[in-house]
Amino acid sequence: LTVRTDKPGAEVQPTMYGLFFEDINYAADGGLYAEMVKNRSFEFPQSLMGWESFGNVTVRDDGPFERNPHYVRLTPAGHGHKSTGLSNEGFFGVAFRKGETYRFSVWARTPADGKKSKIRVELTDPASMGETQVMASQTIEIDSKEWKRYTATLTPSATVAKGRLRVFLDSGNGCDLEHVSLFPADTWKGHENGLRKDLAQKLADIHPGLLRFPGGCIVEGTDLQTRYQWKNSVGPVENRPLNENRWHYTFRHRFFPDYYQSYGLGFFEYFRLAEEIGAEPLPVLSVGLACQYQNKDMGAHVPTDSLKPYIDDALDLIEFANGPVESEWGKLRADMGHPSPFNLKFIAIGNEQWGPEYPERLQHFVKAIRDKYPDIKIVGSSGPSASGDKFDYLWPEMKRLKADLVDEHYYQPEEFFLTQADRYDSYDRKGPKVFAGEYACHGKGKKFNHFNAALMEAAFMTGLERNADVVHMATYAPLFAHVEGWQWRPDMIWFDNLNSVATASYYVQQLYATYKGSRVLPLTLDGHPVAGKEGQNGLYASAVIDDKTDEYIVKVANTSGSPRELTLKFDGLKKSRKFSDGHAITLSADDPDADNTVDNPSRIVPSESRLTVDGNTIPVTIPAKTFAVYILK
Ligand code: AHR
Repeated sequence: LTVRTDKPGAEVQPTMYGLFFEDINYAADGGLYAEMVKNRSFEFPQSLMGWESFGNVTVRDDGPFERNPHYVRLTPAGHGHKSTGLSNEGFFGVAFRKGETYRFSVWARTPADGKKSKIRVELTDPASMGETQVMASQTIEIDSKEWKRYTATLTPSATVAKGRLRVFLDSGNGCDLEHVSLFPADTWKGHENGLRKDLAQKLADIHPGLLRFPGGCIVEGTDLQTRYQWKNSVGPVENRPLNENRWHYTFRHRFFPDYYQSYGLGFFEYFRLAEEIGAEPLPVLSVGLACQYQNKDMGAHVPTDSLKPYIDDALDLIEFANGPVESEWGKLRADMGHPSPFNLKFIAIGNEQWGPEYPERLQHFVKAIRDKYPDIKIVGSSGPSASGDKFDYLWPEMKRLKADLVDEHYYQPEEFFLTQADRYDSYDRKGPKVFAGEYACHGKGKKFNHFNAALMEAAFMTGLERNADVVHMATYAPLFAHVEGWQWRPDMIWFDNLNSVATASYYVQQLYATYKGSRVLPLTLDGHPVAGKEGQNGLYASAVIDDKTDEYIVKVANTSGSPRELTLKFDGLKKSRKFSDGHAITLSADDPDADNTVDNPSRIVPSESRLTVDGNTIPVTIPAKTFAVYILK
């Protein structure tokens, strides 16, 4: 393998390689968003979904938060042997760990007479049917007839995966309760309305250049009413209205009747997360077309002369992210705790739209955004593709509208990834840049997240890297999945309520993002490019230099069944330059069909070894079915 060090090519964009967060598979509520109470505001269609009530509990709808008006009234059960209260089932259980601290909070008031009451809050293990075990308990006095927020901390005496949160009327004439909430005290960066630390850390550990959010199809909604409306996701959490998650229904007619969006993880939290993990934020907004819905007579298309509220959403979002604190939306950002701007540079309009109705609408957004915010880069969509290998339908339209980037999606089998490493070699260098916004190898025989799929992705990604002049963004998809509540496979990170696991695809993304370098270097094998239609006998490779660390980085995917002996040669180095150090990071598996699971999370992990560096020609052997990153200093 010969790397031409004196002929650096395109700059690798800082936005490479990123994350696509979609609120699917319980990725937000029940996942990254650390809230442990389901239906905390009693706004699900049946107000007590997720709750069991006992004694005298009634639901009322004149509460203190006008967009979440429901709350519960607890009154005495009327007999010394009875009690009044509620128990919450959480998301697939309320999980807690021995010795850790949990923050409980509730909005409450006494009856009109102002007589004090007490509530008892418990973390329980209902597993043994006979007697529920109480693992932590606190009493709170409700002392005001005005609505007020009360807090308590709970430290369980045992770890329980499928626990419950119980709230009893302990003494007094009764009380009203609203927005019942429970978070681990130890959230990511310690934020109050925070994120699950292990999951957010996994995102940070990738060193992503980009965070696309909040979808995917949820941006568009199953219908226009249920599209993601970012303005509902900001401001005090108690008053963010509930939305039906688009993944309430799946394509295969599976049904998740309790899948709603609390919007507790909203646009402020997404922007803050992007900032904290060092990624450029890329919000996606609705273009005025519902998800994969072609029948305009069903009210799924906003008429082009009625798009103003949608366009205002886009303009106001830019103001929310970047505007001065004196502006309407900039002020809200400041009030939420972030007076400095988020430095938003990109905005995507539309997800997987197709047909002329998409550019017909997009053009109005483009004009309004260009007029007001000429520096913001606009990401358009190429529409979905049946075969995955032809996306030429909307590209001419995106070029005409001068979209800065075009978002392509491909969920395809192994052959697609093996034959598409040169996909971007022929893309128009004068048109919009490419955003490979959703891609993942769907293995034949319904294999998901197995090592072989990750290897195919690694091979394909050499082509993303080599074409850095035209491919400016790339995000694997989707990101998260709860093992008990997924709608879509494969996914990059799986989790249950206590554990999380990085897949082999996660490690491929992490290696690309960590070693993305700054400029592409030409690379040949025996004088030929190593990225033809099917690699060279199963070998795929690319090379970059990292100007900051002065490291040369060569990535090689050996998709074949045999080990390959290679010599890494670096032509064109200055005479004075001698490598002093080198190491290899490899990813392989004992079985190509193996995957990492919550029970066995470390079956496939990268392993590091030193290279024998003696001069600037380095012999290496890459094992069969292996992805390797060689780093020379
Ligand atoms: O990631 C799952 C879905 O796949 C996304 O919502 C959509 O954009 C694509 O069809």
